[in-house]
Amino acid sequence: MNPDASTIAAGAPIEVDLSPVAEGQDIKVFWRGKPIYISHRTKKQIEEARAVNVASLPDPQSDEARVKSGHDQWLVVIGICTHLGCIPIAHEGNYDGFFCPCHGSQYDTSGRIRQGPAPANLAVPPYQFVSDTKIQIG
Ligand code: FES
Repeated sequence: MNPDASTIAAGAPIEVDLSPVAEGQDIKVFWRGKPIYISHRTKKQIEEARAVNVASLPDPQSDEARVKSGHDQWLVVIGICTHLGCIPIAHEGNYDGFFCPCHGSQYDTSGRIRQGPAPANLAVPPYQFVSDTKIQIG
């Protein structure tokens, strides 16, 4: 049985099938009225995220801490810029991550802030893998 639309809007968990999402592709879903970006990262994107000196970041956090172990190719973040709340664009900007056109914040392939006025990384919502190709958000 699936929850009805009003239950989902109130914040019920949602399940997302990842199997149609090709490597290098992002999808956007909505949870609790918020846009959630799910990125199927390439090996190169993961390597880029892990090659960074974490201590040099404005909001220091390792890539490993932002993804689920064993599912490192999947990045799941709330698509709301931590500056003033605009919705960043995926696969844009200097770091191949997310670019916020409002005031120029640049996030990397781990959703971490790298440049611009945003003070913090894109938030990671609560989620878990319920199978190898399916996550539950919330
Ligand atoms: S709201 Fe994103 S940079 Fe200002």
